[in-house]
Amino acid sequence: MKRLTPVLSFSLLFLLLFGCQTANREEPDPLFSEPFVPDVDVESARRGARLYATYCGFCHGYQGEGNLSDQANSLNNPTFLSTASDEFIEKSIHYGRPNTSMSAWSEEQNGPLNPGEIRDITALIRSWQTTKSVAVKDPPPGRASRGQALYAKKCASCHGKNGEGRSALSLNNPRFLDSASDGFLAYAIRKGRPKTKMPAFENKFSSNQISDLVALLRSWATPVQDAPVARFTPPLENPVLNPDGPPAHFDLFEDRFVSSDQVFEALIAGDALILIDARSTGDYLLGHIQGSLSIPFYRIDEASKTLPKDRWIITYCACPHAISGQAADKLIQAGFKKVAVLDEGFPYWKQQGYPTLSGPDRGHR
Ligand code: HEC
Ligand code: HEC
Repeated sequence: MKRLTPVLSFSLLFLLLFGCQTANREEPDPLFSEPFVPDVDVESARRGARLYATYCGFCHGYQGEGNLSDQANSLNNPTFLSTASDEFIEKSIHYGRPNTSMSAWSEEQNGPLNPGEIRDITALIRSWQTTKSVAVKDPPPGRASRGQALYAKKCASCHGKNGEGRSALSLNNPRFLDSASDGFLAYAIRKGRPKTKMPAFENKFSSNQISDLVALLRSWATPVQDAPVARFTPPLENPVLNPDGPPAHFDLFEDRFVSSDQVFEALIAGDALILIDARSTGDYLLGHIQGSLSIPFYRIDEASKTLPKDRWIITYCACPHAISGQAADKLIQAGFKKVAVLDEGFPYWKQQGYPTLSGPDRGHR
């Protein structure tokens, strides 16, 4: 046989390399169909950027890179953005993830944002998308009972034994499961979230195993209520708890924090102090420290004009520090000196069985 000319052998090599890749690409993927590139309304995204900086960046990162606080996930992640619809993102902002530090941000749920503002933030998040969108398809049905063992071994260390969240976000939240399709879940498990701790499992698990995991996550879903909640404007009169009691005294650590135990003891002793729930009012209504005022961190400047400067003020949130820290900083900037942040946050307070209340409080009727 004649020797191949260099040009021909190069062409063959080319075919071998790129021909194979093309063949791979054309193989139908069972989980998604044709990609598309979405349009972004640039003006809307620009308005969204200002809102995002105020309300979101300190947890999710100012470019959506995630993890600035707690388990706040990335929002600029390619595998997230290529599969999360605008509706998914808008709903996440609107209803939040109840009982996590992700508040319901819509006015309709007693948060600060109107529907146009939620669309603007969604446009901003969409503008971070760098890869084509994929329309995910639901995987074939799996069995939750089979997914259990795999989950315990491969997922629980980050997402919690029952998906309640641990070092990573929760997977059992009713609002999350209400908006995430089986296809969205399967895709996240297969492809992971590049450059985060979430691994891609597509080369480790069979498609049956992925179906079983999706079935397990789905089995945690509980029904959600989409009705708007009653509008509640928290009153600010009589902010001091135990106004006739002795003044509270706190030794702060790191010049900033006070423990839940110390605050509880001060309450039991009948000491005078002010407790501020710095989360959105919607979170406050779901459950708060009994006797606290609802002053969301984004309203604190205005509210601080009516607060006394000679009493101890303790701010808290669920994060445990991201939101309460913002509120405390604003008070300190406004000239308040007796300000502390509750160290462990509301979830710990509740776990200890210290007094909590849901709905309005203290003459708030
Ligand atoms: C106090 C920190 C904090 C703030 C502020 C915050 N988030 Fe979150 N957010 C979280 C956490 C934590 C989660 C995950 C909750 C869980 O464990 O289920 C989350 C979840 C989300 C999700 C769902 C992501 C997914 O993949 O399921 C979106 C979208 C989101 N946040 C957008 C926003 C936007 C937009 C804002 C501002 C309006 C915002 N967040 C403000 C902490 C925060
Ligand atoms: C080493 C820690 C770790 C392990 C192990 C892990 N995850 Fe994750 N997972 C994460 C983190 C962190 C994120 C959020 C990434 C981000 O910031 O975008 C995530 C995101 C997800 C999401 C997307 C959630 C959303 O709201 O968009 C799903 C679904 C998920 N994980 C499922 C699983 C399953 C199922 C397993 C086991 C097979 C698993 N994860 C194992 C850390 C982990």
